[in-house]
Amino acid sequence: MAVSKVKGFIFDLDGVITDTAEYHYRGWKRLADEEGLSFSREDNEHLRGIARRESLMLILKDRVYPEEKIQEMMERKNRYYLEFIKEISPRDLLPGAKELLEEIREAGLKNALGSASKNAGEVIERLGIRALFDVVSDGHSVERQKPAPDLFLHAAKQLGLTPQECVVVEDAAAGIEAARSGSFRTIGLGPRERVGNAELILPNLAGVKLVDLLKALDH
Ligand code: BG6
Ligand code: MG
Repeated sequence: MAVSKVKGFIFDLDGVITDTAEYHYRGWKRLADEEGLSFSREDNEHLRGIARRESLMLILKDRVYPEEKIQEMMERKNRYYLEFIKEISPRDLLPGAKELLEEIREAGLKNALGSASKNAGEVIERLGIRALFDVVSDGHSVERQKPAPDLFLHAAKQLGLTPQECVVVEDAAAGIEAARSGSFRTIGLGPRERVGNAELILPNLAGVKLVDLLKALDH
């Protein structure tokens, strides 16, 4: 079967372009400590790519809380997170991310952001890379979050491309699952145990060149 030509890339943010995973962890950890709940770095690994509400549900496990309390806890965690991201600057770009975004644009292809975070807009502004994206799809764009394909479908539609013409770059198992179920091409960043279902697996974006990616994706 012939593979269609790649015309655009959809980048996840947290863990792909910048390492906000650590800030999400610290925010949840502080909340969990205040609430007397156990929460480890290992638990946090399962929250990669998972939206705020679903993340809280995973931390609460089978405990039942009134909706008001759930809302309050989500807001509290977000307040802590917003404090952490105030410090974000272009220095927090992960190696190779900006260079790849630039190379894609120079080659006449398109870039979209596909992040489950409601804070994604603020983070890319602080990183100084907003202008490198043709489209921003974030936690406000769709109802159903990863692993549903909706966010990436939203981004592709805004780009005017089909899923087969877009490569999703993700660090989370839920993100790879979302991309695959939407019939997108996939690049997974990180260990095989996490992103093993991606078409192409790389440790990170350091030194990654567009031509090599296209070659490896059998362009
Ligand atoms: C994802 C992160 O990008 O965004 C998750 O990987 C996070 O850890 C999710 O929970 C939602 O983020 P926010 O900023 O809307 O709470
Ligand atoms: Mg991520």
